[in-house]
Amino acid sequence: MSLDEENFDTLLHETRKFPPHPSFRQQATVSSADLYHQAAANGEAFWAEQARELTWSKPFTEILAWDPPHARWFYDGELNAATNTVDRHRQGATKNKVALIWEGEPGDQVVLTYDMLGREVDRAAQMLTALGVQPDDRITLYLPMIPELVIAMLAAAKVGAIHSIVFGGFSAEALRERINDAGSRLVITADAGWRRGKTVPLKANTDAALTGCPQVEQVVVVERVGQIAGLNMIPGRDRWWHQAMAEASTAPFAPVPRHAEDILFTLYTSGTTGKPKGIVHSTAGYLTGANTSCRLVFDLKPEDVYFCTADIGWITGHTYVVYGPLSCGATVVMYEGAPDWPDRDRYWALIERYGVTVLYTAPTSIRTFMKWGPELPGRHRLDSLRLLGTVGEPINPEAWMWYYEVIGGARCPIVDTWWQTETGAAMISPLPGVTDLKPGSASVPVPGIFADVVDTHGHSVPPGGAGYLVLTRPWPSMLRTIWGDDQRYQDTYWNRFPGRYFTGDGAHRDEDGYYWILGRVDDVMNISGHRIGTMEVESALVDDHRVAESAVIGRQHDLKGQAISAFVTLKDGIEGTPELVTALKQHVADKIGPMARPEEIFFTAELPKTRSGKIMRRLLRDVAEGRALGDTTTLADPTVVEALKQQYEAQDPD
Ligand code: WT7
Repeated sequence: MSLDEENFDTLLHETRKFPPHPSFRQQATVSSADLYHQAAANGEAFWAEQARELTWSKPFTEILAWDPPHARWFYDGELNAATNTVDRHRQGATKNKVALIWEGEPGDQVVLTYDMLGREVDRAAQMLTALGVQPDDRITLYLPMIPELVIAMLAAAKVGAIHSIVFGGFSAEALRERINDAGSRLVITADAGWRRGKTVPLKANTDAALTGCPQVEQVVVVERVGQIAGLNMIPGRDRWWHQAMAEASTAPFAPVPRHAEDILFTLYTSGTTGKPKGIVHSTAGYLTGANTSCRLVFDLKPEDVYFCTADIGWITGHTYVVYGPLSCGATVVMYEGAPDWPDRDRYWALIERYGVTVLYTAPTSIRTFMKWGPELPGRHRLDSLRLLGTVGEPINPEAWMWYYEVIGGARCPIVDTWWQTETGAAMISPLPGVTDLKPGSASVPVPGIFADVVDTHGHSVPPGGAGYLVLTRPWPSMLRTIWGDDQRYQDTYWNRFPGRYFTGDGAHRDEDGYYWILGRVDDVMNISGHRIGTMEVESALVDDHRVAESAVIGRQHDLKGQAISAFVTLKDGIEGTPELVTALKQHVADKIGPMARPEEIFFTAELPKTRSGKIMRRLLRDVAEGRALGDTTTLADPTVVEALKQQYEAQDPD
């Protein structure tokens, strides 16, 4: 678990409570607890009512077919995700309402109304059709945070294709693996993207990835940065987005009706084994979760200007930059670059410039802003804000209070939303007009979601206890399977506690029924809110010919939540030099992406193992976090870890 005992202790002594301000409650979409009771009394009726907020080309009559662990929701209905996010707002007055305010890192801007966005999506759908894209084809998008990413994903949805977005921070190799697993024949990328004033070579990475993707026939390249020296456009395979768009028909594109259960997208996430999992999301259920949570959790209304700082390459961006807020007809602020470019007040400048009302960001960012100091937000008017959100990892009460006071002016409720790539939408979160807030707790499951905390035998743990967090009933936006591996879907999520969804997280539930998320209980790390499997980093390390064996853990880190510590055993005759440390860190960044670069690497002659040969990560965490060693009696050779601890302390990198 990522919180050490000391932190956990602080949590347990956290007794502050913040009831909703009357002024917020008065205008909130949900202002009474009735909705919880209704949903508890009849969960399916509750979800059916929410799903009717969507626009259906063929209304559903069936609500749920549950054949554990496979659920089908609203399964005789038909709809299209682009209709629901864009076209349905292209009628009447909302037609000319701003859908997207985009700002590039260099300061350039694009503003698209719903009608303008709709025309772009139609044009891109025509382009995809002209390229031969058929319903259910997979399209990999490897793009910066630019409007074309939103346009391309909605165009894919409009033609009934499945998008698979790969975060632009991933390496060529990670991209290759994801393209091949999805079986995409079309990739959309950009020449490059901007990050901290430098360019990220997306096209070059794509070229490198495609040396190992024989099935990819076409690449469409958005010109974002321009004048990229040596950009290699391969005739017959590569074409420019702007040219293909110019050649495409300008006729409106009729949305391809999708069955409720048809796949809207897949998105890769880390698990306990090396291979990333392609999480499969449905069309209707996913949209229901995205739309409902935006209305109930973010209290989103058409007049809101909503800014979620996540990259669309992660699930948070899918649900809370694109599908959720656009389905609600909100105005979305989207920013391309880094929060400290050109200065450390960029987010606050954006909020002031566009009058942002709802801000959604991650604890790791909040801790960084705290470190940078209150003068930076102090330079800007932030009084347009009315609601704040956080996601990605547990938020420490100190950061919560800072966010509440310095950013929210002690006026804005904070929704701490617990969820996962797999859950599609927020599962445990306050309803801002109803729930009393406790700093550090994601509070209680949202209406229609049913959770529990259980022990190893699957027995519910009474209030005040801790255990494994499970979800006890199917919900519309749940993942449907893992792309190409339904057995892994069943094994990972459902076989541990049959009939219940195993989240992989530990949680404490207090006497009021509030959930306090304790972090992962499996071999998955949470680095700045990004999930990275220990196995992925270990495989990258042993991939270097000088490395014999490695063990990787996530250790406490003040800003990132967790940082990666790698313990490496070298092959005979290889010396553990500082140069090798640098080279291995770079190797991991090249194999996976910069976010997986280890914070520190320790060379050790041996790793602590049980007699059966299992590496004891718990002890490595004790070492890396400078704690007294826990129980070492099951070790094959207890002296190994003692030696390691002494060595670690001697070469403490900080
Ligand atoms: C894991 C999911 C979908 C959110 C973005 C990350 C951790 C997420 C919280 C929170 C404590 C949280 C959990 C979860 N997590 N939100 N509010 N409080 N922990 O999505 O990459 O699928 O990671 O992030 O450990 O299992 P993800």
